[in-house]
Order: sequence, then C-alpha cells, then structure tokens
Amino acid sequence: MKFPKDFLFGAASAAYQVEGAWDEDGKGVSNWDVFSKIPGKTFEGTNGDVAVDHYHRYKEDVRLMAEMGLESYRFSVSWPRIMPNGDGKVNKKGLDFYNNLINECLKYGIVPFVTLYHWDMPQVLEEKGGWTNKATIDAFVKYAETCFKAFGDRVKHWITFNETIVFCKSGYMSAAHPPAIENDQKKYFQATHNVFVAHAKSVEVYKKLKQYGEIGITHVFNPVFSIDNNEENVDAAEHANNFELYWYYDPILKGEYPEYVSNILKERNVLPDMTQDELDVLKRNADNNDFIGLNYYQPMRVAKNHDINSNEKQSPTGAAGGVYFDGYFKSVVMKDKKYTKWGWEISPEAFVDGTKMLKERYGDIKLYVTENGLGDIDLIIEDEILDVPRAKFIEEHLRAVKKAISEGVNLKGYYAWSVIDLLSWLNGYKKQYGFIYVDHNNNLARKKKYSYYWYKNVIETRGEEL
Ligand code: BG6
Repeated sequence: MKFPKDFLFGAASAAYQVEGAWDEDGKGVSNWDVFSKIPGKTFEGTNGDVAVDHYHRYKEDVRLMAEMGLESYRFSVSWPRIMPNGDGKVNKKGLDFYNNLINECLKYGIVPFVTLYHWDMPQVLEEKGGWTNKATIDAFVKYAETCFKAFGDRVKHWITFNETIVFCKSGYMSAAHPPAIENDQKKYFQATHNVFVAHAKSVEVYKKLKQYGEIGITHVFNPVFSIDNNEENVDAAEHANNFELYWYYDPILKGEYPEYVSNILKERNVLPDMTQDELDVLKRNADNNDFIGLNYYQPMRVAKNHDINSNEKQSPTGAAGGVYFDGYFKSVVMKDKKYTKWGWEISPEAFVDGTKMLKERYGDIKLYVTENGLGDIDLIIEDEILDVPRAKFIEEHLRAVKKAISEGVNLKGYYAWSVIDLLSWLNGYKKQYGFIYVDHNNNLARKKKYSYYWYKNVIETRGEEL
C-alpha cells in the first residue's frame, strides 16, 4: 500500500534547538537562555546560543529539505524573538526571520507546520510566575494572534503547544527545565490548566480570524499498558493513563477534566484554581480543534508500586523505569522489550494499540505524528554517516502508521524528529536524531546521512516499499 495522497511526509525541529542567534536582531532573553547557563543543568553545559545556526543558514537547510523531497517542515516560532518582553511591542526583525523562512519553504512547495510554543518563553514572563501566572495566558493569546495575523496568509497548519506534560512536569516537579522547581504538585497542575486555557482561547481567536487553516495541539503520546493481567497492575495502568494521558487530552477534546484525576487532586488539595469562564472556554472550543499532534517515542509499561519510600524516581530524561511522583505506580523495564541507548522502549506495535485507544475515547479526530525518531550516537566510517538503525526505526514506525490507517485511524502525516541534528535540551549534541549531520568540528557544516537518502526514497515511492 502507498500512503494516501493527502498524507504529509515531514520532519521537525524547534527554535531553541536549532536557531542560535540568541541575542540578535532584537530577540528578547528566553527562560532557556537563562536556565541553560546555570551550572549543572544541561549536559556538559551546552546551550542554544549558537545551536546549529539555523537562523543564519535556513536557506541552505531548506534547500537540503527540498532535495530530500520533504513535503512539510514543522518548526517553532520563538516567542521572545517576536515579543522580546513577552507582552506588548512586536520585534519587526523577528517577524522578518519567520516570514523569510516560511517563504523559503513555500518556494520549494514545502508546507510549513508551525508550533507556537516549543518551550522557550520570554524570561520576563518566567520571572513573573510563568505558566502558574494567569497573566501569561493573555500574553500568549496576544502572541498567538500576532503570529496568525503575520503568517496566516501562508501558514495553514498551527500547533499551539508542544508537550504540555513535559515542560510543566519538568518545570515544577523534577526541576529539570525552567523554572526548576521541585515537587510542587499545586504549581504543576495549575500550569497545565493555564496552558489548556491559553490553547482554547488561541483556538477561538484563530477561528474568528477565518483564515481557513487548521489548528491543534501536540501532546506526548505515551499510551500506558499494564505489565500483566494482575488486577492491581491493570488498575495502576488505568491510574497512569488518567494522570499522564487523559488529564492532557480530555480538556482539549472533551472540554472537561477526567473526574478520576480531579477528585484525587481535590483530596490532595492541589486542584488548580479555575474560574467558570475558563471552564466555559475549554468546553466551547473542544470541537474547534482540527487535530491532535502525537509525539510518539515510547509507551509506558506499568505496575502497582508497593514501596512508597522507593527512591527509584522517574527519569527526567525519559528513560523507562522509576516510581511516578504520586507513588501509586511505577514504570517497569521489561526483559522482553527493546530499548534505545538512552533507555527508551522501542515499540511500533504499542503505537498501533495506542491510537486505537485514542479512537475509542475521542472518536475520529484527525491525528498527525508530529514527532517520532531515534536518538542515537551515529556510526561514522570514512566520513559517511551510517545511521542505519535510525532508518530501521523510522521504517518500523511508518509501517505501524500504515497499519493504524488501514485499521481506520485518521492519521494524516508523519514528522520525523528531527530534520537535522540539533541541541537536545538535556543531552547536548551527543544524542543525534537528524537526517542531516552537523559537523561541530568544521564550522557546523551540513552533510547528508544514510537516512537522508533512505527517507528521500520513502517519500518518492510514498512508502510503497516499506
Ligand atoms: C520531545 C521534544 O520531547 O523529544 C523535543 O519535543 C526533543 O524537543 C525530543 O528534542 C527528544 O528528546 P531528547 O531528550 O532525546 O532530546
């Protein structure tokens, strides 16, 4: 089977991870500009000051994408580049950069798929409480509207937020991302609620502008499965799905929170403060979402946790294993499963099962895989980058996407993470994901990898040979 004609083959990046130019052309300081410079916070102190210099080399990068036959490029806009102080005055040069990038994509017929928030927030707002401060909601909506108005004549695919669970949990529970707060459940859940409201309000604004494009949100997609049929483990998996999945998908797609989680949060006294108006906004806009973006890397295998005092905590870098913050369940590394060098499970099968779970709970909402890929240390022999495991990983997952489509799941595109090697938030440049290699010892020169040619062929043949 070939992939349907309207299915988009893409690849992705995010502003902080590729752009660099952190203080050029009027850009404001972001929370990541500050956080990444705190000693010990990132791998070998790496930061995005230069990253892979996409800001200056976007023309070369987009040309390489075009030569690969890429149909769509998912990238993010840096909020502090557009609004240096978070709210208020717009930086014209910031708009210019994205206008140029969008036009460059369109020159080659590459569809721009734009994320508004991939974690870099204006530092000014972070200092005022970031996502725990309700004023951030209005600031975000203004920023979103500015982007819709500036780019919406050419951009027809919008993602509001990338992975709310990651930046909120890492920001307020594990202190692995800014604002580096530890174990504050009240703030964690408050931040998620404020993000959902900011999303819903932005969707409402977008629909009122009648630009006739589509808008949605990207979530981590980590469907949870019990390690066996034991009742208490099945119950633990359901608990985990409620906290890790439904808490994120329900307010977007149903416009309300899963009661199971709300009740527990009430008991623990950590239910977010929410007004009736905010709840109404969520409800009103549930049907306005055109799609959900899924960032799929791995599922979660779960068992009941019996050792409340266990200090084997969930890894902030995503490796399987460890007890989750409320102590109720633990993620389990299983002997019969495969894992990447960073301990992430490799399971295309779980993707298929997971999308069926989504369909059952949320109906036929359109889905895109907005990220999927293999973080690896690529093999280089005589200057050739032989990233065969990456091609194999993507092949298996594209086959899973095919299978899900043939079983009735409404999937309309696949974006490999990542188009080019880039800065991993916590793993520096050591963990590579790209089709295009960046030589850090040779002035950031670009080079096509094995997977580049492989993906080019997949796109040309529309996946028929997979
Ligand atoms: C996703 C993010 O969580 O995973 C990306 O959206 C990130 O920005 C990717 O790079 C891979 O994570 P890591 O930690 O392996 O770089």
